[in-house]
Amino acid sequence: MKKILIINGPNLNLLGKREPSVYGGRSFEDYFRELQEACRDRAELAYFQSNSEGALIDKLQEAGFACDGIVLNAGAYTHTSIALADAIRAVPAPVVEVHISNVYAREEYRHHSFLSPACRGCIAGFGLDSYRLAVEALLATSYKPQAASSGESAHS
Ligand code: DQA
Repeated sequence: MKKILIINGPNLNLLGKREPSVYGGRSFEDYFRELQEACRDRAELAYFQSNSEGALIDKLQEAGFACDGIVLNAGAYTHTSIALADAIRAVPAPVVEVHISNVYAREEYRHHSFLSPACRGCIAGFGLDSYRLAVEALLATSYKPQAASSGESAHS
């Protein structure tokens, strides 16, 4: 059974209330319960949310050595945080970057991610289902934890 942690960054605690035309009308807690149940036989899913960059880094450092995979929606820190990218590179667990919205169809400042080059892969634009797709990707991938990669080397 794979242990997978979903990490949500800033403002994602407001899902369901925040810009519903962009992010939908459902709370993450509600969606998470359903996802947890759907994956019950294949994955042990846990969830963490914080609005603070340091807390997200602390969690990545901790879970990155304890979990088999991490699904990360870093919210706006995606577009600003070299520190989060460094934390992803520092841990052996594969990290899948997730976005609810299709960031490439939105403002130009959302087109760049500091995290993507450090991540195993990226999923964006499928609403909350992006998280399920990321979990499926982690479950389908036979990824052997290895020393932190430069971001340029191929993942096996
Ligand atoms: C987001 C996209 C980001 O650009 C934005 O800052 C968010 C949410 C998404 O899930 O679509 O907070 O990561």
